[in-house]
Amino acid sequence: MRIPIIAGNWKMNKSPDETIELVEAMRAPLTDIVGVEKVICPPFVCLSAAQEAIGDAEIGLGAQNVYFEESGAYTGEIAPGMLEGLVQYVIIGHSERREYFGETDEGVNKKTKVALAHGLTPIVCVGETLALRQSAKTDDWVGRQVVAALEGLTGEQVRTLIIAYEPIWAIGTGVAATAEDAQQVIGGVIRPTVVGLFGDDVAAALRIQYGGSVKPSNATELMSLPDVDGALVGGASLNAADFCEIVRLTAACRG
Ligand code: PGA
Repeated sequence: MRIPIIAGNWKMNKSPDETIELVEAMRAPLTDIVGVEKVICPPFVCLSAAQEAIGDAEIGLGAQNVYFEESGAYTGEIAPGMLEGLVQYVIIGHSERREYFGETDEGVNKKTKVALAHGLTPIVCVGETLALRQSAKTDDWVGRQVVAALEGLTGEQVRTLIIAYEPIWAIGTGVAATAEDAQQVIGGVIRPTVVGLFGDDVAAALRIQYGGSVKPSNATELMSLPDVDGALVGGASLNAADFCEIVRLTAACRG
């Protein structure tokens, strides 16, 4: 049984003080919900504040990025070792990183490897643009992104990580993928690609999230899909009530 995981990607929002406020608003309601793993991913400069505000609550902490070198002259970057002991998860290859910061499949693969080497759980993002979807290239594109991201990993590593399927046209637009589209890509492309690379056992253990305009009004439909093991939530994760409600609805449809 795969335990669903709901992760909030705060993107470039919230100061350290605002982080404490938001974590305090989520802490008690999230603690009351069982059967779902809950994670928040605030900006780097807010991670310490978030860690302190989380305290001993069962809320995981994730970073939104990591660099693949261990240290050195890489101005502005954060090394994987710096995240050890601070976070348990790291988002890798979000479409905004790929689009605005030139991240490539090769870099995503390197980052995934170093994150794993440092004991961090990668949340590896894949997804197609609207143009690719309209030209019926979604399956091919997403399949290739998965192959590239997982290149050189062992099955033991792959079973521990998380893939987030985030169609780019659904991110921040308010228009989520239909349940049918999400299930088709996650259950019809991503999981079978992992079966082909690492076998049935690994693919059955690997958790695959859906991301893109997840909100309380569509959470039940998306989170009850057989191959969808949670969500990567952007906008709605900045609102304590909405985020907690998404977690609650996920627990309800799995319970
Ligand atoms: P959204 O973002 O929920 O605001 O669409 C999702 C994401 O980018 O991870």
